Amino acid sequence: MSNGIGTNRDQWGTRAGFLMATVGSAVGLGNLWRFPYIAGEGGGGAFLLFYLIIVVILGFTVTMAELTLGRHTQLNPMGAYRSIKKKWAWVGRMAILTAFLIMFYYCVIGGWVLKYFVAFLTGQFGGSNLAASKALFASFTGSTFEPIIYTAIFLLATLAIVYFGVSRGIEKASRVLMPTLFVFLIILAIRAITLPGAAEGIRYFLLPDFSRMDSQTILTAMGQVFYSLSLGMGIMITYGSYLDKQSDIVSSSAFIPLADTVVAILAGLAILPAVFVFGFQPDAGPGLMFVTLPAVFGQMPLGRFFAVLFFLLVLFAALTSTISLLEVNVTYLIDEKKFSRRKAAIWATLLIFIFSIPASLSMGSWADIHFLPGMNFFSSIDYLTSNIMLPLGGLLLCIFIGWVWGVDNAVKEITNDGAISFRMVSLWSFLIKYVAPLFILLIFLNALGII
Ligand code: PHE
Repeated sequence: MSNGIGTNRDQWGTRAGFLMATVGSAVGLGNLWRFPYIAGEGGGGAFLLFYLIIVVILGFTVTMAELTLGRHTQLNPMGAYRSIKKKWAWVGRMAILTAFLIMFYYCVIGGWVLKYFVAFLTGQFGGSNLAASKALFASFTGSTFEPIIYTAIFLLATLAIVYFGVSRGIEKASRVLMPTLFVFLIILAIRAITLPGAAEGIRYFLLPDFSRMDSQTILTAMGQVFYSLSLGMGIMITYGSYLDKQSDIVSSSAFIPLADTVVAILAGLAILPAVFVFGFQPDAGPGLMFVTLPAVFGQMPLGRFFAVLFFLLVLFAALTSTISLLEVNVTYLIDEKKFSRRKAAIWATLLIFIFSIPASLSMGSWADIHFLPGMNFFSSIDYLTSNIMLPLGGLLLCIFIGWVWGVDNAVKEITNDGAISFRMVSLWSFLIKYVAPLFILLIFLNALGII
């Protein structure tokens, strides 16, 4: 223990378990519905190339910074910042708050995914065209009670896993959920690219087309890397705090972004060809997953089977992400408020559930109640977290690691005082001090509409 504060801390049982859990946090709705769409729209292969470069520069660098801070302090995000520099505790607190807020809407979407899984499984959906699919989505999300009930069930599943702790809960679940997700995704990708006429979708997704790219695409790509890797809200600090001192942060920090990107690309291959084959247009956001895809499955041979597989895999992806969000809150309550894990998990879940109700109602009776100008509760929380708190948290993290704690101290932790080789020390130091903050600042200004 580095400082004696975080004693009796739960730890990962195995390295594979840790990796499955971190990749599980990273792989989520961002990979499965947002990435394929923005990659296609942003120039296919050209976008992909650019995305990969940013993943290496930003993803790898910041993931490593967060894991390092967590493992060094063995504390929750707030405690981690505070133990190094007291005045910075609020940055950690903001990260925890971000995770808390994101849960409000993320678990509502988790509830929708659950509903779609159940509906396809029991044969309530199927054979629908686009108009019918749209109507179904609107009537389900617009109703008052049903989505809230599904959200509650989804949250309870998250709670059930976090309740049992790091190695017995999160790690165990991730070791089952993530490999299953991967296998399902491969099956779906193979199905999609072997459909007659799949080439058009593959071309749209992978063929480089620089004319579809502009400065906006590049900023979108940066923001996507950040969101997709679950950076800026203390998740990797928290998961890093359960690592033992012998663990190898260098290779983990490379593996996590890599695996996340592989899943995003597979998702594109599983989704876009099928969308084109059946004559649809890829749509943005919820429309693609809950309107277009159900219509695609409705027309595909054995569509119901593939739909069940698909929504189950999305469910797993969402679940491993909400687990990590809840865990950030739980570890804070355990460290700082001296709650037992069980009490912390139950209270945090209860509070999140209460706030998820207005998020759910935002699709129905609360649609026109605005919180931020022109935005209902759901969109306000999404805007506040994704566009403001995440980039701000990331920017401050880089400044903290690069300039306040100092790269020398960080490198000492990364290399276990020289025991582990890390050949890119000077490159990483340069990236975390100068390049990553600059990139994140650009994302931030763009998100605010300033550039
Ligand atoms: N990384 C997740 C995704 O790609 C999203 C997420 C963001 C999860 C923040 C947890 C926290 O969907």
